[in-house]
Amino acid sequence: MANLWVRKPLSQLLAQAGDSEKGLKRTLGAWNLVALGIGAIIGAGLFVRTAAAAAEAAGPSVTLSFVVAAIGCAFAGLCYAEFAAMIPIAGSAYTYAYATMGEFVAWIIGWALIMEYALGAATVSIAWSEYLNKLLGGAIPFEWCHSPFEGGIMNAPALIILLILTLILIKGTQESAMVNAIIVAIKVSIVLIFIAVGWSFVDPANHTPYMIPEGTPGHDGLFKHGWGGVLGGAAIVFFAFIGFDAVSTAAQEAKKPERDMPIGILGSLAVCTILYILFSHVLTGVANWQEFKTAGKEASVAYAIQNHMPGYEWLATAVTVAILAGFSSVILVMLMGQSRVFYSMANDGLIPKAFSELHPKFRTPYKSNWILFFFVGAFAAFVPGNVAGDLTSFGTLLAFVLVSLGVLFMRRSDPNQPRPFKTPLVPLVPILGAVICTGMIIAIDPLTLKTALGWMLVGFLVYFGYSRKHSKLQS
Ligand code: ALA
Repeated sequence: MANLWVRKPLSQLLAQAGDSEKGLKRTLGAWNLVALGIGAIIGAGLFVRTAAAAAEAAGPSVTLSFVVAAIGCAFAGLCYAEFAAMIPIAGSAYTYAYATMGEFVAWIIGWALIMEYALGAATVSIAWSEYLNKLLGGAIPFEWCHSPFEGGIMNAPALIILLILTLILIKGTQESAMVNAIIVAIKVSIVLIFIAVGWSFVDPANHTPYMIPEGTPGHDGLFKHGWGGVLGGAAIVFFAFIGFDAVSTAAQEAKKPERDMPIGILGSLAVCTILYILFSHVLTGVANWQEFKTAGKEASVAYAIQNHMPGYEWLATAVTVAILAGFSSVILVMLMGQSRVFYSMANDGLIPKAFSELHPKFRTPYKSNWILFFFVGAFAAFVPGNVAGDLTSFGTLLAFVLVSLGVLFMRRSDPNQPRPFKTPLVPLVPILGAVICTGMIIAIDPLTLKTALGWMLVGFLVYFGYSRKHSKLQS
């Protein structure tokens, strides 16, 4: 009789981590990892959701929303850092759960991570296609950049960007890291230029009052004005932070994981938090938050520049380029993260072996990359974009909760195991991480939660139909 709660022994995991002869190549240094994190983090969340959060819930205090979301992520990030430094192998939250809470919980988290990474990549590739068309002045024929559900044939640009990034990923992790670093340099530069130039156009009147006052029409709900609005805004901009955890999926490719994993995870989170706070301060200072409800609702950053920063129209085009670049690196790191989680799950026998087979020359999980391209590509080409955004947040938050709890479990089960990085203030930090992220899950809209539940039920069928019987630990 198989045991649902069987735990993967830490000694076995650490042996796997040391086994670099056959496995993934250790090529990434601290800076690569920070860049990988920034690559995955700055994207639609910043460029699209900042204005949405200001218009819907927080007004100018969206800046505080970023602070709140960052605090929630920092708690989870500190827990990720402890695990990633201690168990430097590819599977991230999935692996940590296998070592602490057993196979079934590990399966749940592995299955939920598909929502974060694979679905996240599909969603962002659809957004990429939209922005490309915008940059080209609408030159792509409608039917070739929309799914059949929207009256098109297929979303060809989404498929093309996925193909290009898949080929880069197969070529090598170091090559992927280099492409990522170039993209990160472009998007961070443009964010910095926007902050620097926009600073002198900030009109203090736009920041007054700082929070949406009670009684403002259309802002009746608890999370629509005042401090409640700050929290409502935090749930919206949480999406902007998704991705720092993807650094941990590259743990098996880090040269010095015990030192560089915490730097990569917490460093990228810190850099992005600072940029986000400054960016949102400038954006809501240049344009009034009310404008983001109407004329500035779409392409909000370009709108603010074109309407309030005379002489800097070129910056609006540069921002669109930054957005395209930003989306590309988000997709790249999400696809990479997904293939690394699959790599670990296949090594454990929970999914077919093809997912862990490495390319004879490049030593990347090329079969997994191709299978992913096929599925993510089908989704991106034939399904509308709005379906998956919040599911991505659900998958991520569930992983954050379980990783936070995992730290508590592991401190009790293996108290003497060397921990190169220790989460401070245990049990407070993990408990707060789990509580805040559970709160954000509860705030997700009910339809998304039902869809996520449906996805998890499919996962149970796969587990009981296949994985449990093929699990290496169970045989
Ligand atoms: N954080 C990523 C983005 O904002 C997912 O696009």
